[in-house]
Amino acid sequence: MAKKPISPIPVEQLPRHVAIIMDGNGRWAKKRALPRTAGHFEGANNFRKIIRHTRDIGIPYISFYAFSTENWKRPDDEVHAIMDLMRKYLVEAYEFFDLNVRFVLLGDRNGFDADLQEKYDNLERDTHDFHAMTTGIAANYGSRYEITAAVKEIAALVKEGLLQPEDITEEIISQHLYTKEMPDVDLVIRTSGEYRISNFLLWQSAYAEFYFTDTLWPDFSPKEFDKALVDYASRNRRFGGV
Ligand code: IPE
Ligand code: IPE
Ligand code: MG
Repeated sequence: MAKKPISPIPVEQLPRHVAIIMDGNGRWAKKRALPRTAGHFEGANNFRKIIRHTRDIGIPYISFYAFSTENWKRPDDEVHAIMDLMRKYLVEAYEFFDLNVRFVLLGDRNGFDADLQEKYDNLERDTHDFHAMTTGIAANYGSRYEITAAVKEIAALVKEGLLQPEDITEEIISQHLYTKEMPDVDLVIRTSGEYRISNFLLWQSAYAEFYFTDTLWPDFSPKEFDKALVDYASRNRRFGGV
């Protein structure tokens, strides 16, 4: 029996790159009188579910906002709990091997403990040639930080005489961002009823469509993801034209 197509919209209308701001873990836990870390645990489980789903649909690029450069401000025990969850999931990400999913870290790896850096390095290396879907994990990520780092790299090239200021293009700037191997974002999804971008992929989302939902991240199901896709397919993207 032929397998039913899983995409809720015609495949040619699928976004190439979906970026998700996974927000609301803390409130999910609070509603259940649980510690915030329990919310992060459930949120990480959901991250796995959504990876499988988007891979099955055939979306080629997905990015998840897991930890921002501003999230270090949180209480130490919460930060530690999130780092430990990352450790766990970076090892368990090997469950996606059969799915042919490539993982890339979007963020400054130097901010992490050495063992965590190594886990990111290993996962990137071991999945480098997988091509069913590329998953960006934005961790220790901030868009302004990323752009500042790119400017520093480009300035160094100019200083060395390898590049002339008049030759700096948008393409060159894109090539110095963590997302250099990913296309621009088509659809940004933010859960938990907040209507802001919180320093996520500012350059890459210049012409993205936005989808907001009140659902808290641990409750954001594949079905809800499909709803976002249906909504996206109804948008008229003009890119400044008519
Ligand atoms: C998002 O959930 C996960 C991270 C920022 C790591 P929050 O922890 O921000 O959850 P709320 O916004 O407090 O509910
Ligand atoms: C954005 O959520 C960062 C992540 C989802 C990792 P936050 O909860 O940190 O954002 P603000 O503070 O509400 O803007
Ligand atoms: Mg939040």
